[in-house]
Amino acid sequence: MSRPFAVGLAVALLALAACGERDPAAPPPAAAPATSGGPAARPAPPAPGAAGAQDCASCHERLHPSLQAAHRAGPHRGLRCEDCHGADHDRIFSTDGQVSSATCGRCHEKAYAGFRRSRHGRLLKEGKADAALRAHPAPVGSCNAVNGCHAVQRENADGSVGACAACHAAHAAAPHVARDPAVCARCHRGPDHLQWETWAADKHGVLWRQQPGAGVAPACADCHLPGGDHDDGRGLTRSVVARHGAPPTTLLEPLSRAEHDAARAAMVAVCTACHGKRLAEATLASADDARADALALCEEAAEIVRGLDADGLLSPRPKDRTDNPVAGGALVLGGKQIFDETSSRAERLFYELWMFDFPGLWRAAYHTDPDLVRWTARERLKTHLIELRAEAARLRAAAPPPK
Ligand code: HEC
Ligand code: HEC
Ligand code: HEC
Ligand code: HEC
Ligand code: HEC
Ligand code: HEC
Ligand code: HEC
Repeated sequence: MSRPFAVGLAVALLALAACGERDPAAPPPAAAPATSGGPAARPAPPAPGAAGAQDCASCHERLHPSLQAAHRAGPHRGLRCEDCHGADHDRIFSTDGQVSSATCGRCHEKAYAGFRRSRHGRLLKEGKADAALRAHPAPVGSCNAVNGCHAVQRENADGSVGACAACHAAHAAAPHVARDPAVCARCHRGPDHLQWETWAADKHGVLWRQQPGAGVAPACADCHLPGGDHDDGRGLTRSVVARHGAPPTTLLEPLSRAEHDAARAAMVAVCTACHGKRLAEATLASADDARADALALCEEAAEIVRGLDADGLLSPRPKDRTDNPVAGGALVLGGKQIFDETSSRAERLFYELWMFDFPGLWRAAYHTDPDLVRWTARERLKTHLIELRAEAARLRAAAPPPK
């Protein structure tokens, strides 16, 4: 902490000297005409090329006073705007005001190093799915655009990867903001993710909400970013998200034994701050079993659909219908099925089972949500599998006999 602090202090002193920025503790200038008129009172952008010549605050205090107030009240009050945004206003506009992870990393080396190892910090380029998403079902923009869930993995203009502000508030960057599970829930909730719901439903979530931040029960960051380690992959024994959309049999790529054991030991060490080792290990081992068991059912379902496809029995067949914008006229199983508006009933059943029932079940298992794992999600998964088996039998019975 001493180095960032020293850098910050130097920057703060520089700021005061170079730019005459106010003492951060001082109140805003009385003259700031925040409420003195309508849109006409808003200053225009600096002339091209003339960007850094003026004090940023001379315009921005009037443009958005509450942003300035957040900056003055936050941990970065000793910094100048230029320290994160640069002083070239043309460049600021051409990059939509984005601040790269490398910019933050200049002063926060430890967080940046962890982030670069993490799944969050892994580059996700805009791909065919983004183009398809923009057109379907309504223009929603790409997944890694501003405020998209994958903005955390975006490509920055300086070549670095990712946005720290996906979790941290841009100008009020105190760590307690990012520690609030509601921040994680921006992206980690909903029926195909369910990490937030499963945490919230179990004792951990209930107790945490009663005494947030008291250290009694864990929030997301306590288990996944303990002690400010920004490598979110630590302690995970498998990754579904990494291979989103790939065929189910390859989806849960197992780690090597050694990698698995190291990851498991790291997670158990988190639990044993509050629990006995036996409870921790037994809980996680039973979650492993629940996930493996449910995965086997998913693989059976995938085999049924693939078999129907191979025998030309899907109705309609992929090659006879509107092309999937990502996969073309071939069968696709997984997330990219969202772009198939004319797919068969068998494929839709698989989609329900794989995208919603299975994720609910295995997230509930690890997040110790007792009901979903033993009943709701498992029951739904079995129901969809039974319906799929019946659909396959119906299609096969109705098929013309082989010549
Ligand atoms: C020019 C250096 C500098 C840059 C660039 C910078 N910071 Fe900081 N940051 C500091 C200093 C100095 C502090 C206050 C001292 C401390 O707590 O480390 C601080 C504090 C913080 C804190 C609170 C830490 C705590 O323990 O209270 C967070 C979170 C943070 N910064 C995140 C970011 C993010 C995210 C970015 C990029 C958007 C960023 N910083 C860019 C220097 C910088
Ligand atoms: C610690 C780094 C940091 C400092 C210092 C900083 N900003 Fe920002 N600012 C950010 C981040 C991060 C974003 C979000 C951009 C992104 O998506 O990467 C942002 C966004 C913005 C935006 C666009 C926000 C919107 O909602 O439209 C404006 C305007 C802005 N900053 C102005 C300023 C001004 C003026 C100052 C000086 C008072 C300042 N910033 C100081 C990090 C910083
Ligand atoms: C002459 C007035 C003026 C000055 C000086 C000025 N800005 Fe701006 N800035 C603007 C205007 C106007 C906008 C657009 C605001 C809007 O869209 O509402 C803007 C937008 C921004 C944005 C958001 C960009 C985006 O695409 O959303 C950032 C970040 C920013 N300015 C940073 C700075 C920094 C850093 C400085 C100092 C180096 C600075 N500005 C100096 C007028 C100014
Ligand atoms: C996935 C969400 C997330 C992202 C992305 C993220 N952070 Fe954090 N950050 C957190 C959480 C949560 C904490 C509080 C951890 C704790 O105290 O247990 C934190 C704490 C911090 C702290 C204070 C503790 C410390 O390590 O000094 C700094 C500084 C920081 N983050 C900087 C960054 C920077 C720089 C980036 C981008 C390179 C970044 N963060 C990206 C969630 C995030
Ligand atoms: C802006 C959206 C966003 C926010 C906010 C966010 N995440 Fe993530 N997270 C993602 C995305 C996207 C991935 C998938 C990265 C990949 O593997 O491609 C991910 C991956 C992860 C993973 C690894 C999963 C795996 O199997 O690869 C963990 C653990 C995680 N996040 C925890 C958190 C926690 C804890 C927080 C809050 C402190 C948080 N995330 C905040 C978007 C977000
Ligand atoms: C008590 C500790 C604990 C808490 C609290 C916790 N998790 Fe987890 N989480 C785990 C464990 C254990 C796993 C599975 C580890 C493995 O793969 O062996 C996991 C897996 C994950 C994964 C990766 C697998 C997946 O679902 O794609 C993500 C993402 C995730 N958690 C997000 C969150 C979020 C968001 C929160 C808060 C809403 C949260 N977790 C709260 C322990 C926790
Ligand atoms: C910050 C402390 C803390 C951490 C870390 C933590 N837990 Fe817990 N956990 C609790 C508390 C408190 C309870 C509620 C105990 C009670 O009923 O009084 C609880 C309850 C449980 C329960 C339900 C037990 C029961 O008797 O109903 C299980 C299972 C569990 N935790 C597993 C884990 C696992 C696995 C980890 C690590 C991945 C973990 N916990 C991490 C505090 C924690």
